[in-house]
Amino acid sequence: MTATTTAGPLTSPTHAAYLAGQDPVLTASDISITYEVDPPVHAVKGASLTLHRGEILGLAGESGCGKTTLAYGLNRLLKPPAILRSGEVTFHDADGADVDVVGLRGDALRAFRWDKVSMVFQGAMNSLNPVISVRDQLQDVMTTHRPQMSRAARGARSAELLELVGVDPVRLDSFAHELSGGMRQRVMIAMALALNPQVMIMDEPTTALDVVVQRGILREIMKLREQFGFAVVFITHDLPMLLEISDRIAVMRDGEIVEIDTAESVYARAQHPYTRTLLASFPSLTGERGAFVRGGGPATEEGEES
Ligand SMILES: Nc1ncnc2c1ncn2[C@@H]1O[C@H](COP(=O)(O)OP(=O)(O)OP(=O)(O)O)[C@@H](O)[C@H]1O
Ligand SMILES: [Mg+2]
Repeated sequence: MTATTTAGPLTSPTHAAYLAGQDPVLTASDISITYEVDPPVHAVKGASLTLHRGEILGLAGESGCGKTTLAYGLNRLLKPPAILRSGEVTFHDADGADVDVVGLRGDALRAFRWDKVSMVFQGAMNSLNPVISVRDQLQDVMTTHRPQMSRAARGARSAELLELVGVDPVRLDSFAHELSGGMRQRVMIAMALALNPQVMIMDEPTTALDVVVQRGILREIMKLREQFGFAVVFITHDLPMLLEISDRIAVMRDGEIVEIDTAESVYARAQHPYTRTLLASFPSLTGERGAFVRGGGPATEEGEES
C-alpha cells in the first residue's frame, strides 16, 4: 500500500501494518459538525477515525481546529448551535454488541455516557463544584449510574479511585479550593475512571499544569491504561507530548484530519506539510529529545531517532 495522496488523511505502510493487529472500540466515519451561527462555522469536515482497544490516539492541531468539537461528536455531547451534519459513530462494546452512538436517546444514552465512554473535559479542573466535597463529587457519579450500589461500597470505591490516581484518600473530605491544580485534575480523572469505561476522551488534561506535575499525571494515565486496558483519545496542541505517549497521532487542521499515523512515523517521516510545520514549531523536537514518559530514558528505540 502506498501513501494516500487523494482525499482523506495521509498515512503510511507502517500505519497499515499496525492496523492489521488491532481490535476497534470506537469507529467514527465522515463526521461533519457545524455551529449554526451567522455565518455558520464548519468546525469538523468529514473526519473519520478508528480507536482501538487499549490504544492511545493523540489528536493534535492548533487552537480552533475543531478538536473539542470532534470529541463532543464522538461522545454525543453536542448541543445547539452545534449540529452533526453527517457521520456515524459506532461503539464496539467488549460484550460484542455494536452501538450506534448517534442514534442513542434517553436512558440508553445515559447508560452509555460515562459508563462506556467517559470524558475529562477541557478546563474541567477549574469547574469542580466548589461547595461539594471530593467524596460527594465521586459518589455522585456512582449514585447516578449505579443506584444499586450500597453506601459503603460507594465510599470504598471513592477511596480506591483517589488512590488509583495518586491522591491520598484523606482528600475525600476536601473541597476544590483546598486542592492544587494537579490534584484537581487527578480528581477529574478519577471521576472519569469511576465506572471502568472502555474509552476515555481526555481534552487537554494537563495543559494548565507545570511540567513536573504534567509528567506525573501522564505517567499515572499510562499506568492506569496498562492496568485497566481502556483506550484513550488524548487531545492537546502539545505535539511533542503526544509523540511520547501516543500509539498513533491524528493531525487536525481547520476541521479536517490531514494525517494519521503511528507516533513513530509522524515523528520520523511526517508526510503532510502541515504536520511538518507543526513539528518544526516545537524547538524541543528539532534538538535533543527529552526522556520518554513511557520508557523513562532517551528515545533511541527503533534506531530512528538518535
Ligand atoms: N459555541 C460555538 N459557536 C460558534 N462557534 C464555535 C462554538 N464553539 C466553537 N466554535 C468554533 O468552532 C471551531 C472549533 O472549535 P474547537 O473548540 O472545537 O477547537 P479546538 O481545536 O478544541 O481549540 P482549542 O485548542 O483552543 O481548545 C472554532 O473556529 C471555534 O471558534
Ligand atoms: Mg478544545
